Amino acid sequence: MNDYLPETTPIWAGVEATLRELLTGYGYSEIRLPLVEQTELFARSIGAVTDIVEKEMYTFADRNGDSLTLRPEGTAGCVRACLEHGLLHNQVQRLWYLGPMFRHERPQQGRYRQFHQIGAEAFGMAGPDIDAELICLTARFWKCLGIQEVTLQLNSLGSSAARGAYRDRLVAFLEAHLDRLDEDSRRRLYSNPLRILDSKNPTMEPVLAAAPRLMEQLDPDSRRHFDGLLELLEVAGIAYEINPRLVRGLDYYGDTVFEWVTERLGAQATLCAGGRYDGLVEQLGGRPTPAIGFAVGLERLIALLSEAGYAGLKTDPDAYLVTVGEAAGRQGLMLAEQLRDRLPDLRLQLNCGGGNFKAQLKRADRSGARLALLLGEDEVKAGGVAVKFLREAQPQQTLPQERLTEFLAACLDDWRRLAEYNPIRAGEV
Ligand code: HAM
Repeated sequence: MNDYLPETTPIWAGVEATLRELLTGYGYSEIRLPLVEQTELFARSIGAVTDIVEKEMYTFADRNGDSLTLRPEGTAGCVRACLEHGLLHNQVQRLWYLGPMFRHERPQQGRYRQFHQIGAEAFGMAGPDIDAELICLTARFWKCLGIQEVTLQLNSLGSSAARGAYRDRLVAFLEAHLDRLDEDSRRRLYSNPLRILDSKNPTMEPVLAAAPRLMEQLDPDSRRHFDGLLELLEVAGIAYEINPRLVRGLDYYGDTVFEWVTERLGAQATLCAGGRYDGLVEQLGGRPTPAIGFAVGLERLIALLSEAGYAGLKTDPDAYLVTVGEAAGRQGLMLAEQLRDRLPDLRLQLNCGGGNFKAQLKRADRSGARLALLLGEDEVKAGGVAVKFLREAQPQQTLPQERLTEFLAACLDDWRRLAEYNPIRAGEV
């Protein structure tokens, strides 16, 4: 579980602002969900024999003896909330969420025990149009953040009947090659054989390459759905790879599944993953409701962006107010509060904790501020303030204090503050 220090939080804020803006632009509304749910919710939705539920959940008994779990993912809680608040009655819903998830995995680069996801869930739409639109949305995430080296992998897991029949064929095939399976695959052979297809062990490669493929045994509805999706992706100009071994680690999926992967992150290569889960709402007590969603792993996305030198949201102050002497200290506080009243956008840092002129100017410089505002005995007497540009070759000037608001407003305009806050609107992406 990581601390996120001030040097990295501007990147987080930049990524979150960009993704939030895009999700809103595609018609998704934010939903905020609790970090803790009844354990049973996850067992019923993710699946009792998945790695997450068997080995990775932070589960505890609360004071009433109820079994609770820190959420390992967002979909189950989102469906629970929709059912609890009647959000799915004869209507479509497009929802998104952001927050920490918890899995007791073996930590390594890109894999943590507390990590963050931005996820989206779309309910009530059965056709491949929403699958395509969701994938377009994720593709736009990368485009807007300037990420190029990602590949879309796609598969169809078909209907549950087709999956059941396929499962039997796969088990029979793997039983016939038992001597070539590694320990992990033997353990999963009867409990979760489809997950064996996802094995990253190179010694398993030849046997898995020869395994029967679910994609070749889809029933007609699933086939039509998948072909429809491929056609729409072609229309949208989104390149994809079909990966018949993409099975996902959660049991609620059927039909479309997808992952965005990159070679730049080492073993933890999946940046974003999702798929269709048309059976889950009913399984959790609602009416049958088609649904599809995805989640982006923010730590991985941010690792990728940091490596590429992405700066994120600017947080440096615009101005730093230096005050020398008691009278200037008092007047400085008043002036700073006045400026904040008049210019709500202004980022102004007031020197606190004393220090001589030189020391304060050094702090001003270190703060990253573009301007230092100087208030000493002379300025207090004359009702003025000196302005020193810290990043631009411009001469220092002294202004009457009553002109300072106007002066700073013009500077803020110049610096295109809005452009920095909203790279999408500013057309920089
Ligand atoms: P997931 O594949 O388990 O899917 O996780 C989605 C993404 O979260 C992964 O691709 C990865 O980027 C990130 N992630 C997962 N585990 C970790 C970890 N231990 N450390 C860092 N990042 C991690 C789901 O969670 C589904 N709920 C996605 C979904 C939403 N499907 C439909 N709707």
